[in-house]
Amino acid sequence: MVAVFASLVLAAPAGLRAAATPAAQHDSVPHLGVASCGGSTCHGRQEATGPRVRQNERLTWADPASLTGAHARAWKILGAPRARAIGDRLGIADVSASRDCTACHGDPAPNRGAQFQQSDGVGCEACHGGAGGKAGWLAGHAAGASHADNVANGLWAIDRPALRANLCLDCHFGSAKPGQFVTHRIMAAGHPRLSFELDLFTSLQAHHDEDRDYAARKRIAGGVQTWAIGQALAVERALTLYPARSAGAFPEFVFFDCRSCHRSFSDDPAVALVARRNAARPMPPGQPLWNDENMLLLAAAASVAAPTLAPQLERQSRALHASFGIGRTDALAAGAALSRTAAQLAAQFERGRFGKAETLAMLDAVLVRNADRYTDYQGGTQAVMAADTLLAALVAAGQADRAAVLALRPDLDRAYAAARDANAWSPPAFRAALAGIAARVRQLA
Ligand code: HEC
Ligand code: HEC
Ligand code: HEC
Ligand code: HEC
Repeated sequence: MVAVFASLVLAAPAGLRAAATPAAQHDSVPHLGVASCGGSTCHGRQEATGPRVRQNERLTWADPASLTGAHARAWKILGAPRARAIGDRLGIADVSASRDCTACHGDPAPNRGAQFQQSDGVGCEACHGGAGGKAGWLAGHAAGASHADNVANGLWAIDRPALRANLCLDCHFGSAKPGQFVTHRIMAAGHPRLSFELDLFTSLQAHHDEDRDYAARKRIAGGVQTWAIGQALAVERALTLYPARSAGAFPEFVFFDCRSCHRSFSDDPAVALVARRNAARPMPPGQPLWNDENMLLLAAAASVAAPTLAPQLERQSRALHASFGIGRTDALAAGAALSRTAAQLAAQFERGRFGKAETLAMLDAVLVRNADRYTDYQGGTQAVMAADTLLAALVAAGQADRAAVLALRPDLDRAYAAARDANAWSPPAFRAALAGIAARVRQLA
């Protein structure tokens, strides 16, 4: 019985295996290194002149002047003064050799080929899966195997939004795998807060074209579906990691809204309290607040794309907030229930279709319905990224006039600016910026 089960697990494509066991160890297939992918006849061309794929992916990945090169810089940044200062405060002598940093600022694969170099940072196989080993995908792939064959040989099918979300979240939120978690302790030593939105970040690092040839080989999910699935799986990820994480006698703080603790206060009765009312959060005063940035946007997506599940999501979100005022057992139970709903929503979004009407309805939910819920800048940042992503999706699908959306850019930039500095965060100013966007979006209908 055990043997049969084991062989079934081994038969599943590696990408699916990884998704089914998020708490697993790092990918053990040998990672051969960027040099094995980036040769001049493979993905190392100087120009995007490949007949099927661009073939200059290595150049884009390594671009020193743009965000598309962020992953090639990820390890080198560990030599910068800011990174060394983090190490000093944590008592890590060499952050560039510590797994607590390199598991995200590098390729964490334990099994490495001769050409593998840590200094390559987050290399091709950290996202596309280890290429080597007896049954690795490299040989067949280089000989022109189909995408399905490559995936069967262990290439990760990250054209699928759920697989991609779980991959990116490992480093852009955190995972249960060794080394992949930025604790509050690391943030208090100087690490930036992690902020992520699947579709926007995909386009910021993209080195591929979703053209007709791509559509014949792979799945094009589109921006709206990718965004919605990304929100659902981010909610699920936080809630699944929460139970096992603590900071000494306290729960791990990074799951909570930074500004719910980091505020000013005064004994002077003339000074107004700074905590803001929020109808979506039945919280007693003085509690750290669960960071609900993805929950807020998931509610917006669900209200349009999963109306029957949406009320359950709302109810469970409120129950989660309330549970922290009751006890840890209650919080764990409320978290588990909400996490299951988030997974269900991701599956439902996977089957959904997102046309112009749905996208406009989601924009309305993000900009208008949710407007008084962005009492904290983390939710605010997610809201602008959502608006940006959904508008880009309308243009990409030919459902909105490019010039009309471009004319919205100053409003978007104003909203981004309003959410940039946690200490300057003003909900009324932010709501005004959102209202400006909403007014123009209505003209796109
Ligand atoms: C869970 C994955 C993860 C871990 C673990 C992690 N980091 Fe990071 N780090 C990131 C991500 C993602 C960013 C980019 C943040 C952003 O801008 O959204 C980042 C950004 C940084 C930056 C700022 C880089 C810049 O371009 O300004 C420094 C410095 C840094 N990390 C150092 C460290 C050090 C030192 C450690 C170990 C103590 C560490 N990181 C552990 C994921 C991680
Ligand atoms: C941070 C993650 C990440 C890294 C690192 C990365 N890629 Fe990708 N890559 C993606 C994503 C996401 C896609 C789009 C989804 C897909 O087609 O699988 C993609 C797509 C591609 C494609 C597909 C184009 C097509 O038309 O099918 C190629 C080829 C590719 N990457 C090569 C590389 C090479 C070579 C490297 C290293 C130099 C690399 N990638 C590094 C995430 C990454
Ligand atoms: C193995 C860890 C790892 C994985 C997997 C990963 N990233 Fe990153 N990513 C990082 C680190 C670390 C940085 C910060 C590098 C720096 O600032 O120098 C980063 C930076 C970025 C940036 C630049 C913006 C910023 O915040 O600094 C984008 C965009 C990005 N990643 C997108 C993605 C996407 C999309 C995926 C999934 C397809 C992904 N990443 C998967 C580790 C990872
Ligand atoms: C449950 C309350 C709580 C939450 C939530 C919280 N923090 Fe903290 N934070 C603290 C405490 C307590 C300290 C230690 C203060 C001290 O040393 O004076 C601290 C210290 C820090 C410091 C060091 C400040 C300094 O000047 O030394 C930074 C940076 C920081 N937190 C960032 C964050 C970020 C980013 C988040 C959200 C992801 C966050 N915190 C969430 C309670 C919290």
